[in-house]
Amino acid sequence: MAKPVTRRNFLWMGWGMFAAFMGSAAGAVGKFMLPNVLYEPSQIFKAGRPEDFPLGVSTKLTKEFRVWIVKTPTSLYAFWARCTHLGCTPNWFDAENRFKCPCHGSNFSIEGDVIAGPAPKPLNRCAVALLPTGEILVDKSILETRPGFRDKRQFMIDLTAKA
Ligand code: FES
Repeated sequence: MAKPVTRRNFLWMGWGMFAAFMGSAAGAVGKFMLPNVLYEPSQIFKAGRPEDFPLGVSTKLTKEFRVWIVKTPTSLYAFWARCTHLGCTPNWFDAENRFKCPCHGSNFSIEGDVIAGPAPKPLNRCAVALLPTGEILVDKSILETRPGFRDKRQFMIDLTAKA
């Protein structure tokens, strides 16, 4: 036969539930006071000088900054190395002159345009500028994919204008 709940036990159960509620409320307040902070590398960084990069696609900053630097005889621009489909990192294939995404097969031209696969838009170009020191400044927080806009000065350094 089950033991009857005494008045004293009933009161202790009530105090126990109240203490559990207050403890969880204090925990929630504590979590609010100490928010999760994600320390990520800066979106703006110096990439070196134009003469540090060979003609074509350079992948030397891919691991550290997730960008590719593309240099032509007359200009230089930077891609964010992130597929516009679901965010994988494509690889550059020199022999085929294209970026290929290993996840679902999107292919991109050296200009960033979609050649094949499910990617809905071209690769993102990052804002770039040539500092008075001759170094390239890349800003991954300002991006452009649209032809006609991505070729503007903010996203492409004119190497012919350099003295
Ligand atoms: S993430 Fe690149 S094709 Fe899907």
